[in-house]
Amino acid sequence: MKKAKRLDHVQASLTLAITAKAAAMKSEGIDIISFGAGEPDFDTPAPVVEAAKNALDHGLTRYTAVAGMPALRAEIAAWYGREFGVETAPDQVIVGIGGKQVIYNAIMSIIDAGDMVLIPSPYWLSYPAMVHLAGGEVAFIETREEEKFLMTPNMLEEAIVKHAPKLLILNSPSNPTGQCYTESDLRALADVLRRHPDVNILWDNIYAHLTYGGFRHVELAKVAPDLCPRLVTTGGFSKSFAMTGWRLGFAIADPERIRMMTTIQSHSTSNAVSFAQAGALAALKLDRAVLENMRKAFENRRNIILEEISKIDGVSCAAPMGAFYVLLNCKKYCNIERGLHWIQGDVDLAKYILEEGHVATVPGSAFGAPGYLRLSFALDEEGIRKGIQRIADALATLNA
Ligand SMILES: Cc1ncc(COP(=O)(O)O)c(C=O)c1O
Repeated sequence: MKKAKRLDHVQASLTLAITAKAAAMKSEGIDIISFGAGEPDFDTPAPVVEAAKNALDHGLTRYTAVAGMPALRAEIAAWYGREFGVETAPDQVIVGIGGKQVIYNAIMSIIDAGDMVLIPSPYWLSYPAMVHLAGGEVAFIETREEEKFLMTPNMLEEAIVKHAPKLLILNSPSNPTGQCYTESDLRALADVLRRHPDVNILWDNIYAHLTYGGFRHVELAKVAPDLCPRLVTTGGFSKSFAMTGWRLGFAIADPERIRMMTTIQSHSTSNAVSFAQAGALAALKLDRAVLENMRKAFENRRNIILEEISKIDGVSCAAPMGAFYVLLNCKKYCNIERGLHWIQGDVDLAKYILEEGHVATVPGSAFGAPGYLRLSFALDEEGIRKGIQRIADALATLNA
């Protein structure tokens, strides 16, 4: 069958085999605990659902403007300004079908065939795939666990000099590490970027409202407004508003960049779903307490999972300051032979934990972090305690 060359570097997700196996085991009636989810387990807040229903009842069922309903673009601009202290105009906003689509459109509007893109590693697995689909090439910047997986200014400077990239992709809070750049981190990175005016920046803040331990998210646009002409900030409703299925994301950028992204979107998907946009308008007007309650629940789960993990022999993780993932260092168990079990890396380990412990995790290799497992804590407290205990028991068997 004919296969386009652009697919050569885009692999089917490493996680698919494990997810499929977990699903098959579940359907056989096996009690699987899943730390695999990349989405909140909460229902979308009721006023958002009501607003979408109302929109349907009132005939909001036609195309909207490609970049989003004017009222929603204006509301996102105002909300972003309030939340992060960055004054934003409606023509600096585009609404798309999930954070994913706006990121894709941003990359498509910046990258030509052969252009280099810098991505700090570990990374969200769709970034390199999107760059390859756009014809670009990726250079990863390897970060270190001892430095909380944060890219340092030196790492950035060296990579820019070596690769002459057209784009840098930054994600804070990060999927999969849960780590966040502080204001002073960002100031230091901005100093480097100022010296290299050809580098565009994509700043993905989709987990910005899910931060813990008193950490307050800071926007790159706030810290370095002078970089804004070459900065695209992307976000969305999936995570902090519990709206994954609504497929709503947005980007904030210079109006010229927004026009380019709108042109691309106009020829692929047109507008985001009309009545979902009505829901998004209501989401931005939600009582703050609604979001805060979800955030608090995640913070509580994060504390529980860290406490439970600390009891397991031979694994460790840097405490996440945001998002809802921990990246568990399991290197000790990634090259081990015990009886029938021969584990040669995190993919084997994840399979073993699924088969022996009936717990689904995501191998770190999927995110450029071999030797690690990603555990999402978007599940209830009991599930977390039970699941971590099962992992501990399965690992203890390997230790025996
Ligand atoms: C870092 C990151 N960015 C963007 C997205 C895209 O989210 P969505 O397309 O649901 O808005 C995700 C989803 O998992 C993510 O983890």
